[in-house]
This record gives sequence, C-alpha cells and structure tokens, in this order.
Amino acid sequence: MQKEDLNYFRRWFFEYVNRFYSPNSFTQENIELKIEHTGRVCENIHLLAKSENIDENECMLAESIALFHDLGRFEQFFKYKTFRDSESENHAVLGVKILNKERVLSRLSGEEENLILKAVEYHNLMEIPKNVETSSKLHYFTRLIRDADKIDILRLAIEEYAKEGKRRNPALELYLPDTPGYSEPIVSEILNNRMAKISDMKNRNDVKLLRLSWIFDLNFPVTFSLLKEYGYLDAIMSSLPENKETGILKRHFENYLNAIESGALKGYIKP
Ligand SMILES: [Fe+2]
Repeated sequence: MQKEDLNYFRRWFFEYVNRFYSPNSFTQENIELKIEHTGRVCENIHLLAKSENIDENECMLAESIALFHDLGRFEQFFKYKTFRDSESENHAVLGVKILNKERVLSRLSGEEENLILKAVEYHNLMEIPKNVETSSKLHYFTRLIRDADKIDILRLAIEEYAKEGKRRNPALELYLPDTPGYSEPIVSEILNNRMAKISDMKNRNDVKLLRLSWIFDLNFPVTFSLLKEYGYLDAIMSSLPENKETGILKRHFENYLNAIESGALKGYIKP
C-alpha cells in the first residue's frame, strides 16, 4: 500500500459521505456525528499504532481500516434512522458490501484488500471469530480497530452524560427508555468480567453499563491509559443512580482496572 492509496481512500470517503447530506437536521446531525467519529477513530488508531511501533505500511493499513470501519453507518442511518443493527442491518457487513460494490479497495493487493474487509467485518462482533489465528496479522489489526473504536465511543458517551438534563441525542442511547434499575444479565456478565450483550439492554442505565463492560475486551495497554486520562469510569458511573448495586459495580470495575495496571491480570491484555 502506498501513500497515494491512503490519500485516495480519504478523498473517496468524503465524496461518499457527502451523498448523505440531509435537509433534516436530526439526520444531518447523526451523519456528521459518524464523520467526526471516523476522524477520531483514525487518530486513535494512529496513537495505538505508534505505541506498538509498527511500520509505515502497517500504519496506513490500520488507518484505512479505521476510515472504513463504520462506512455502513451512513446508509444505515439515512435509510432506517437508527444505529441499532438489530432493527436495521449489521452496519459492518453493510460497509463491506459498499466497499465491494464501489470497488474502493481494488487498487490494493488481494491480501491487503482482504485484511481491510475482514477487519471492518469483525470490528463490531462480540468477539473475534475463533477461526482467526491469534498470531495472524488479521487478528492484530482487528484488535487495533476494536480498541480505537471503543475509545471514541466511550469518549462520546462521557460528553453525552455530562449533558444530563440538557438536550441529549436519543439515537446514541438507542431509543431505550429512562427507567430505573439494571437488567440482571448485564450485571451478571460484568461481575464475571465479560462484555455485556446488546440484546440484554432494557433501559438507558443498561446502555451505560454495556459501554463500561467493554473494558473486559480491551487489548492494548495504551487504551487503558487513554481511558484513564479521560476519567471515563467516574464520568459514566456518576451518571448512574446512587444505590448499593451501583456501588458494587463501581468497586468491581475499579478492582479490575487496578489489577490490569499493577500487572496482576497481564494475561488479560493480549500482546
Ligand atoms: Fe461500528
């Protein structure tokens, strides 16, 4: 992959997203949100790649994956007015379909094209498919995009929760109701150090917990450092109701993060 390829991809991306300009301000706001998200995921993946000392060609591949990881979001929101895959379609698979249909990656070698397509397809799965070798390049790049993506969604969530009481974007909370309590399966997954499932979310508190549960799927030490810098745990926890259950969950997250930091859970962060 050459520098011209990356420049071409960037130009193509902006021409593509321009097709979704909408006079409806709600649609336009959410389209712009995803353009900005893409830009920040590109920055995050750069930071991760730098901390990993990978070569320039690999950095460009990583950035291409970040640029295209949410390509399906634009058509998805334009068509269905939701970011909820279960009520529309899988946005990662949709992105791959668009990249193929528009022949965006055809200028790359078959190997590089396949790497980008697969990493885009796997970026939003609960876990990376078992048939992907853990020592493979694809596994590595998929872990990079999964971390880079989560860093930004969490950062966005922190900003949103800071607006408590002011106007909030309902699409970001997947239109779930603002009811009290938590969904039991979500709490149980967290107490077992596992990512919670989207299908178990019943209200807005669950959305917050689900996002916090992503820490169990982070791969690179620098991701933990960045999230700590943003103060994301306190920011999201303090937007939840103050009760005994919230206290238990908060202590559980803190213990996990302390264990990661002290190296006690070294095996949890895959090299
Ligand atoms: Fe995504």
